[in-house]
Amino acid sequence: MLFAEGRFLKLQLKLSTSTITAINRFSLLKYCSSFSAITTEQVNCQEQQKEHTLNSILHYISSTMSTDLNDYKIIKEGEAEILMHAKNEVFYNKTQVNNRDISIAVLREFISRREQEHEATLSKRKKGTQKATENESVKEEAENVPRETPSENHESNGKREVEENTSPEELEACSSVKGSAKIAEDCSTAGEQTDLTEGKGQVELKPPRVLEALSASGLRSLRYAREVEGIGQVVALDNDIVSVEACRRNIKFNGSVAISKVESHHVDARVYMLTHPKEFDVVDLDPYGSPSVFLDSAVQSVADGGILMCTATDMAVLCGANGEVCYSKYGSYPLRGKYCHEMALRILLASIESHANRYKRYIVPVLSVQMDFYVRVFVRIYTSASAMKNTPLKLSYVYQCTGCDSFHLQPIGRTISKNTSVRYLPGYGPVVPQECSDCGKKFTMGGPIWSAPIHDQDWVGSILADVKSMKNRYPAYDRISAVLTTISEELTDVPLFLSLHNLCATLKCTSPSAVMFRSAVINAGYCISGTHVNPLGLKSDAPMDVIWDIMRCWVKNHPVKAQPADQPGSVILAKEPVLQASFARAISSLSKAQAKKVVRFLPNPERHWGPKLRAGRQITSKHVSLLGPAAVNGALNHEDDEEPKSKKPKTENDITS
Ligand SMILES: C[S@@+](CC[C@H](N)C(=O)[O-])C[C@H]1O[C@@H](n2cnc3c(N)ncnc32)[C@H](O)[C@@H]1O
Ligand SMILES: [Zn+2]
Repeated sequence: MLFAEGRFLKLQLKLSTSTITAINRFSLLKYCSSFSAITTEQVNCQEQQKEHTLNSILHYISSTMSTDLNDYKIIKEGEAEILMHAKNEVFYNKTQVNNRDISIAVLREFISRREQEHEATLSKRKKGTQKATENESVKEEAENVPRETPSENHESNGKREVEENTSPEELEACSSVKGSAKIAEDCSTAGEQTDLTEGKGQVELKPPRVLEALSASGLRSLRYAREVEGIGQVVALDNDIVSVEACRRNIKFNGSVAISKVESHHVDARVYMLTHPKEFDVVDLDPYGSPSVFLDSAVQSVADGGILMCTATDMAVLCGANGEVCYSKYGSYPLRGKYCHEMALRILLASIESHANRYKRYIVPVLSVQMDFYVRVFVRIYTSASAMKNTPLKLSYVYQCTGCDSFHLQPIGRTISKNTSVRYLPGYGPVVPQECSDCGKKFTMGGPIWSAPIHDQDWVGSILADVKSMKNRYPAYDRISAVLTTISEELTDVPLFLSLHNLCATLKCTSPSAVMFRSAVINAGYCISGTHVNPLGLKSDAPMDVIWDIMRCWVKNHPVKAQPADQPGSVILAKEPVLQASFARAISSLSKAQAKKVVRFLPNPERHWGPKLRAGRQITSKHVSLLGPAAVNGALNHEDDEEPKSKKPKTENDITS
């Protein structure tokens, strides 16, 4: 302690004109005492090294920055620490701790699965070798020819079969470590034989290389490097020189692990990704606003079976504030339904798939999260010209009734199978009449959206278990475990969701509790779940006419005041229900997490928990229109004392009791 204090004074003297306040004494002491000690000699040695590093960092700062060191403070998140300038010249948003934490959790899972998949590929290859050897012995015995070595045999046999049966695209898709069991299965014949023919033997799995394409201060890259076991090189890019300088400073500030693993480049991320095709096992895109301009190069930079992590914070655009802007950026029309945040996720996924398809690639989403003020998706990317043909089956347009909020999905494609062959055809349509069969109003049409699953529940379960097992290593543990818990209970094959409040608003009736409504759906023979996107949202595979019948039955016992006959609610209630709904409490009407009283939704930890502008920028009307007034509210009203009651997020407690 005395030593550290002494050093602090020495630094003060060295920087004679500056009195360190922001990089304060406490921070320095904490920094100095954070080095793990093993033996006295090691302690001394480490102390000397750290002393040297600390001195060089401070020397670096004072020589490269014209500003006063008073202007800096140390920000710690997870294992990483960054030096932050008071003038906010480099982007940093502490609310993104949720985003970074969840990405670390996914990265850990990816690394573990990648290893398992590699093992599985190797053992399959080994079995293939044995089988081929056995077959060859039988053949040789039958033909009574002189015996060759197994490797020679494999070489000739493998090559012939591959050439005869496998397209170049499929070979390409199968040439590296496979992602899912299914892919490994699909590719096993071609890929394994190719490797055997080349006599490569057992390929060593290299640690995954990570590209943080838009890195700002480098905080995320530093966290990846310092916190994720088994990670390889982390390349951090930024096209802003001040950010790159900050990132380099922060790399040094974080010591030897960071210095050996993280490298920073001043470059346009698009150029870098285009010139490094299939080189990164992980590509992380975390832009201001929309990622759309980065998608084309990003999908090319991910290795086969690798993962793309992508944030979009332009929620106002994705949620329909300017539909035409969304169309121009993402190729999809958004709708302003209650489900718009989930639609935003699905628009982003559809857009990534479309970019991937241009290069004979396709995506497999493993986790898709809408949190705080953004969406973040985690998708694996594979190359296969034949698998890519399935894309139209995974996309749909959405018809949204203008009167009653009913929605219907129109798939883009369909297949017909005959014996072993599959034909790809355009989808049948339209799936709705000109006027809504429930309320008689017209439909608007949005999309196309990704209508296949947006999460892999196997991944979600493992990530959640892993997060729970290392609670202390996630600063945003409460929030991310709550989100993952809710996601783990979502129906995966039901795109979008209903809002019970909206249904009741259409009918102008009182609301059944969520448990009663869930029970009625389950008692009618359908599935229902919550959604992480909205505490009031309900996902169900029940068709809209069943949903309205349930509501008609509810209104019979909870009558509403008479409304004009042309109102959507009146038209719906004028019909007799076909189904006799039962609201008796069904066993599974509460989710497992609800039953165990596990927290699924949390309020924001503090006021103004939202997006931040580009470093050093002022808010303009453009920001308000891009991000939405709610999103910039915090920044506009920094002096407010109390958040208005009406702005407080509703929780599931508002409806479940
Ligand atoms: C939202 S910040 C990134 C935040 C960071 N990922 C984190 O977790 O703290 C976006 C960064 O992207 C950088 N950027 C914008 N366009 C870029 C481009 N074409 N190439 C490289 N960097 C770019 C900006 O300078 C900014 O520092
Ligand atoms: Zn309608």
